[in-house]
Amino acid sequence: MVHAESVNQGGEFIILDTDDMNGRWSPFRNWISLAGLVLAAASLFSFVLLFVIDSMAKEPSPYQGLLTFVVAPGFFVAGCGLMLLGWFFQRRYQIKHAAGAPPPFLSIDLSRPQDRRCLFWFAFSAVIFLLVAAVGSYHSYHYVESVAFCGQLCHKPMHPEYTTYIKSPHARVSCTECHVGPGAASFVKAKLNGVHQLYATLTDSFDRPIKTPLHAMREAKYTCENCHWPQKYIGNKEKTYVRYLSDETNTVVATRMLLKVGGGDPAHGPVGGIHWHMNLNNKVEYLATDDRRQEIPWVRLTNAKGEVTEYRAAGFTNEVNTAQVRVMDCIDCHNRPAHQYSSPGNAVDLSLRTGRLDPNLAGIKMNAVEALSAEYTTQAEARDKIAEFLKSKYPQEAKLSSMVAEVQQIYAQNIFPEMKASWKAYPDNIGHKEWPGCFRCHDGRHKTADGKQKIEASNCNDCHVILAQAAGKEASAFDPQGLTFSHPDPSDDGTGANCNTCHGTE
Ligand code: HEC
Ligand code: HEC
Ligand code: HEC
Ligand code: HEC
Ligand code: HEC
Ligand code: HEC
Repeated sequence: MVHAESVNQGGEFIILDTDDMNGRWSPFRNWISLAGLVLAAASLFSFVLLFVIDSMAKEPSPYQGLLTFVVAPGFFVAGCGLMLLGWFFQRRYQIKHAAGAPPPFLSIDLSRPQDRRCLFWFAFSAVIFLLVAAVGSYHSYHYVESVAFCGQLCHKPMHPEYTTYIKSPHARVSCTECHVGPGAASFVKAKLNGVHQLYATLTDSFDRPIKTPLHAMREAKYTCENCHWPQKYIGNKEKTYVRYLSDETNTVVATRMLLKVGGGDPAHGPVGGIHWHMNLNNKVEYLATDDRRQEIPWVRLTNAKGEVTEYRAAGFTNEVNTAQVRVMDCIDCHNRPAHQYSSPGNAVDLSLRTGRLDPNLAGIKMNAVEALSAEYTTQAEARDKIAEFLKSKYPQEAKLSSMVAEVQQIYAQNIFPEMKASWKAYPDNIGHKEWPGCFRCHDGRHKTADGKQKIEASNCNDCHVILAQAAGKEASAFDPQGLTFSHPDPSDDGTGANCNTCHGTE
């Protein structure tokens, strides 16, 4: 029985009805609770509808996911909240204004048919609600942990990371497995951090490029090592690097190498090689003096016996602030496992090697790299200018359109002018050609105080053995003892340590 008995009396709370047919108090009969009921019912209905649509869609859209699993449940909770708020005000009003004893907090009398009906509907809707909530919260949890939520919803800021991720060896690993890791505490922390990121996205105030290293990222122990067992012995890994020179004939420079990855656990193989660093018995710590961890003037090694060796770069005499010291883990070498931004040179080499660009086209390496290296302000501008430039270089070429498409594709996948993200913005620490990488420490200039020990670099064979340096048939006639690297360009004899001074970003 709803009749407006006492409508807003002098700014008082608005009451619909103070007593029902039996003269009993009904605390939910007020405008606020009713509005809450309508809101809750409508959002529950929308949730069910969206959920059905979402389950039937072949490729659910991240925006619809947001509506289904975040917005609809949010409104539902708000509706329930309003119902309680109305109840609370109504009760307060009642206590203040009703004559006689204050209304009971709750009174159920099972001898009354109306109470029995009420109780039945209450139990029935509670069961339905719990079922929907269980399914919904399960899906909501998975949704906010999904690649669609992290990578596609914040389309603009995450575009470079998402684009590089879907072509990485970790394309099937979800963002959160590396960026959040397991555990309720890290889930909550990541979502709180997400509120700040959402604000930055809405107000367009995020960093361009997004700054790395990511200080919020957890230690490799809680992320990478959930899948990769650090004890694993890898041994030697063979890799052939096929490069092309910037000359008219695109001369091939192939280097076939054995990378001595090795291992760090004596139970599974000899301890040594590159993965010696993650020897579970050793600890390598370092201090970086720049915010991208590229300058490392101090390194401390604690070996299995607990002996400590401290290495300092020439001229570094500062006191070391222990709070800034970092223990080396997987990410100090593998910092681009999911987002690799190739340099124009390396990307064009891959296209030539796989035939997506024709290596017989005169000067194609040089021209494609030049087109990719120019400064553009947007993807659209880059697309147009790349086409224009290549057209001017190869006006007669029959395969011009596929060549242009390939170079545009390389650009779109590796260089993101809107976010200022590219190989220049993000160091890659795994090798030493474009960035200092291993040579941050292995430059032969990090020594102990007495000068007797240093972090080795003099021998190129410490980390890899060059089996062959040639293209075609000659590459199979390799020398297992290892060859001395013969640098293809006379400007360098190939034995200087700092390859990145010429091949890098400067
Ligand atoms: C295999 C693990 C892994 C996966 C999967 C992964 N990332 Fe990353 N991500 C990293 C590492 C490592 C870094 C570099 C951290 C550093 O330098 O401190 C990084 C860096 C980033 C950065 C900083 C900017 C940059 O480009 O370096 C963003 C943003 C980011 N990731 C977003 C994502 C998103 C979104 C996804 C899913 C679409 C994702 N990541 C998936 C490991 C991963
Ligand atoms: C959820 C599991 C998972 C997590 C977490 C994970 N990886 Fe992987 N990783 C894989 C799988 C699976 C592969 C193999 C992919 C293949 O060969 O198809 C792989 C491959 C790799 C490779 C070899 C890549 C190549 O070029 O062949 C490296 C290096 C690597 N992961 C490093 C990391 C690092 C560093 C992290 C932490 C930032 C990490 N992974 C986190 C599952 C994972
Ligand atoms: C000192 C630097 C360094 C550290 C620290 C390091 N790695 Fe590596 N890792 C390398 C290099 C270099 C390679 C070979 C590079 C390549 O494949 O291009 C490699 C190769 C790998 C591979 C590929 C193996 C294969 O069979 O292809 C995996 C997986 C891997 N590392 C995982 C890890 C994990 C997990 C950690 C941390 C527990 C780790 N690495 C720590 C430098 C490092
Ligand atoms: C933070 C400093 C640091 C970085 C970065 C670093 N190393 Fe090392 N590395 C060391 C130290 C310290 C040692 C032990 C001293 C020595 O043997 O020269 C070492 C030892 C080694 C060894 C000899 C292991 C053995 O069998 O005794 C190899 C191989 C090696 N590093 C490879 C690499 C490679 C490859 C990279 C780059 C992907 C790299 N390191 C990056 C600090 C570093
Ligand atoms: C501290 C270990 C280490 C030392 C010392 C080292 N390298 Fe390397 N080098 C690497 C690693 C790791 C890679 C592989 C990077 C990758 O996976 O792409 C590499 C890659 C290379 C490549 C292939 C580059 C490309 O992308 O085409 C060449 C060539 C090379 N090294 C030459 C040398 C020469 C010459 C020296 C001696 C001056 C040397 N390296 C010393 C670790 C080392
Ligand atoms: C003094 C400058 C300089 C230094 C230092 C230098 N390079 Fe080069 N490098 C060049 C030039 C110039 C070319 C020819 C580039 C071209 O034709 O596109 C070249 C070509 C190459 C190529 C084949 C083409 C390509 O672009 O990949 C490889 C591989 C290479 N260098 C590896 C190295 C390595 C490894 C080191 C460090 C040990 C190194 N370079 C140090 C200048 C240098």
